[in-house]
Amino acid sequence: MGTIRSFEDYQEQYKKSIEDPEAFWATIAGEFQWRKKWNKVLEWDFHKPEVKWFIGGKLNITENCIDRHLPQRAKQTAIIWEPNNPKDEALHITYQQLSEEVGKTANMLKAQGVKKGDRVCVYLPMIPQLAYTLLACARIGAVHSVVFAGFSAKSLIDRITDAGSTIVVTADGGFRGDKTINLKGIVDEALEKCPDVSRVIVYEHTKTKAPMKVGRDLWWHEEIKKVNAQCPAEEMDAEDLLFILYTSGSTGKPKGMVHTCGGYMVYTNYTFRTAFNYEEGQVYWCTADIGWITGHSYILYGPLSAGATTVMFEGVPSWPDWGRFWQAIERHKINIFYTAPTAIRSLEKAPISFVESHDLSSLKVLGTVGEPINEEAWNWYDKNIGKGKCPIIDTWWQTETGGFMISPIAHATKLKPAFATLPLPGVQPAVMNESGLEIKGNNIEGRLTIKFPWPSMARTIYGDHQRFKDTYFSTFPGKYFTGDGCKRDEDGYYRITGRVDDIIIVSGHNLGTAEIESAITEHKNVVETAVVGFPHDIKGQAVYAFVILHDKPGNDETLRGEIRETVSKIIGPIAKPDKIQFVSGLPKTRSGKIMRRILRKVAEGDTANLGDTSTLLDPAVVDEIKAGAL
Ligand code: PRX
Repeated sequence: MGTIRSFEDYQEQYKKSIEDPEAFWATIAGEFQWRKKWNKVLEWDFHKPEVKWFIGGKLNITENCIDRHLPQRAKQTAIIWEPNNPKDEALHITYQQLSEEVGKTANMLKAQGVKKGDRVCVYLPMIPQLAYTLLACARIGAVHSVVFAGFSAKSLIDRITDAGSTIVVTADGGFRGDKTINLKGIVDEALEKCPDVSRVIVYEHTKTKAPMKVGRDLWWHEEIKKVNAQCPAEEMDAEDLLFILYTSGSTGKPKGMVHTCGGYMVYTNYTFRTAFNYEEGQVYWCTADIGWITGHSYILYGPLSAGATTVMFEGVPSWPDWGRFWQAIERHKINIFYTAPTAIRSLEKAPISFVESHDLSSLKVLGTVGEPINEEAWNWYDKNIGKGKCPIIDTWWQTETGGFMISPIAHATKLKPAFATLPLPGVQPAVMNESGLEIKGNNIEGRLTIKFPWPSMARTIYGDHQRFKDTYFSTFPGKYFTGDGCKRDEDGYYRITGRVDDIIIVSGHNLGTAEIESAITEHKNVVETAVVGFPHDIKGQAVYAFVILHDKPGNDETLRGEIRETVSKIIGPIAKPDKIQFVSGLPKTRSGKIMRRILRKVAEGDTANLGDTSTLLDPAVVDEIKAGAL
């Protein structure tokens, strides 16, 4: 399908994609290397729900991300690895080297008995071995299940158990700025509760002391020596599982979103090339961690299937100083830079000299993802980083969608700060009102749904198809419900207004309120708690917890510290509440449901109009909460 270089191109492709989606996607899919062509492009039913793309097609995604590039690009850099410490040398891994490393890693996994369909839990920092491991799983048809290496032992237990992983690939530790995280220690703690894990492969990275359990734990560097670099790719059906990736749900348990091989490959590749207006030879940097969907789709699979040079960064934007991103852009002559609004907001607060001391002239296109970007941050990014000449693509999408859904196309779509703008070709949004009717026309606001399938949509929640149906296809029957609210302005442009369910997005990371609440109640002095989000300057949203205690503490701050630690231990540091208010009761209806609407208003500091509180069991509790608001 021709590249989109103008708004007219976009309109033409969009029209084609709606009029004949099957022909549209078949043309794009035809650009890949298939072992066997599909018999039928699409079968779908959003009521069941069931979606299948490229039915009967056979492929291996790694042949498309690696092998097919080798004739022209063996010597081209596939991955630039920028280490945590800028004093250490960056690695340039060519497509040839990538092929060999992935082949070896795949053979190492095979030697441990990993086969097609097995779920491999990956708990690695942002080092090249993370990329090798994912691609190695894909090579042999194993399903990777990556757990972000900032998550706790408890999160690891939940994900290992839910996916039924019997092997974990990890490292001794990971660096994040001036901190070293003892990953192997966390794995050991988790595995006490995961009796089915029989193998742990440990990559030595930080030289953190890692006790090895005999019969279970193996060093990567020892095992990799025993295998060769040739590993034939397993033939996969287009609908075979490629990976599981967990995302927070409104109810406690995380949801293992299932992505499949064919549609995911086609869509991440197409959206990467199209939205960024990627040109051959460009160097691309997405600052996300591969532990999130952004990293899966737009550090690894999208860019590599397009034959691009993609950067993996191990560190953080603030260490050793706030110039770290800009220094790396200069060093690697980055052309396309993709980051999160949270990062932009914190970088904006640092002295501008950190930006000005670096040459950013290589930049051509900028992007953001993960949460709504406010206009101020958008303008700062545009002026100071893009120097007013780089389009900013604000990409709206989700773990569930696998790839970009609503986003400008660089150099084609006219931009509006803080707007994700228009649906990409193939994406058919519908905005619904609360009574379940589609709101047509412009200048409207409602709930965002998608009414037609796209190739990279999640197919199910691992092991719980009913939950998949209940969460995404029941609120508005026949439509995929995103959980987000949006506005559509007079030009038909979309602006995402945020979640309309019990998910809080903190620094671009989805956190379920139920999950945080259950962590807080693990503290022995906590009777009950309710958690809501509130606006935060840098994080976008932060966590506000209302907590009922057994005993009034001697020192509120000590107890707050303990509660934060409890949450950090159970979920991870990102979920720690910023504010903890001790209360004697929560606003509940007669049927016992917490009225979060009231708590949200209190947390936002907007107590003047709390709406109707007459249905509360004990309206007096609201006055106490208002009086004690933080
Ligand atoms: O609320 C939306 C927000 O992030 C949610 C999806 O989170 P996750 O599955 O972790 O995936 C993040 C990376 C794709 C969405 O439901 N979100 C994501 N991108 C944007 C956004 N909100 C506003 N604008 C965006 N560009």
